[in-house]
Amino acid sequence: MTGIVLFGAGSPICADVVETCRRNGMQVAAAIRNVSGSVYVDASIPVVEAADVTTEMTALPFVLPMFSPQNRRLALANATELGFHQPMQLVDCTAIVGGHCIIEEGVYINTSTIVGSGSTLERFVFCNRGANIGHHCHIGSFASIGPGAVLAGSVTVGAGSQIGAGAIILPKVRVGVATIIAPGAVVTRDVSDNGFAAGNPARILTSRP
Ligand SMILES: CC(C)(COP(=O)(O)OP(=O)(O)OC[C@H]1O[C@@H](n2cnc3c(N)ncnc32)[C@H](O)[C@@H]1OP(=O)(O)O)[C@@H](O)C(=O)NCCC(=O)NCCS
Repeated sequence: MTGIVLFGAGSPICADVVETCRRNGMQVAAAIRNVSGSVYVDASIPVVEAADVTTEMTALPFVLPMFSPQNRRLALANATELGFHQPMQLVDCTAIVGGHCIIEEGVYINTSTIVGSGSTLERFVFCNRGANIGHHCHIGSFASIGPGAVLAGSVTVGAGSQIGAGAIILPKVRVGVATIIAPGAVVTRDVSDNGFAAGNPARILTSRP
């Protein structure tokens, strides 16, 4: 058995991850269904129930194809329990990653994303289609960057935070840990840990969804 394993066949974004693999010339060996329900891979990819995972499969590199940081954390715990131990760094061949960047294990970078030079993407960061990450940004582990979001230079995003689609974060702004930035927000000031900011200019909202 060769190729990579998608752990989480029930996530719609599997479709994008499969496209990345195809563009990159990589084979998808299997998609693991770890929760019951629909699957989002086409019929050419074998879907394997978590209970039927073999040691041959757990020896392969794996990717966590889901946008929500919480779901990715849960899937990693589940995958590790089943014996998967080789998180793969998957960078779409249409993405541009500048020099002197640190891209850690388990990171997924979807199509047309740009990462400016000197940036760090910690473990299991997920960058969706067309995100634009400036130079010297630091994205904490398990953070998710939505499609078309723009992070200007030297932005910091804390671990497990979620930046909504099309949000804009101004230079040097610090987004705290486990914070949510709503789609389309223009973030001009720091947002503290466990925060929620929305609007243009973004307001810090007290009630977190
Ligand atoms: C932002 C988000 C957390 C809001 O969650 P929710 O459960 O729908 O929360 P609510 O609708 O109760 O909104 C909470 C408040 O934020 C406001 N709000 C929500 N989204 C907003 C937005 N994009 N811009 C401005 N305000 C927004 C609501 O009006 C509401 O304000 P109020 O309390 O004054 O009425 C949620 O929509 C989200 O995470 N979206 C991310 C989508 C995304 O980009 N995904 C990328 C996937 S690839």
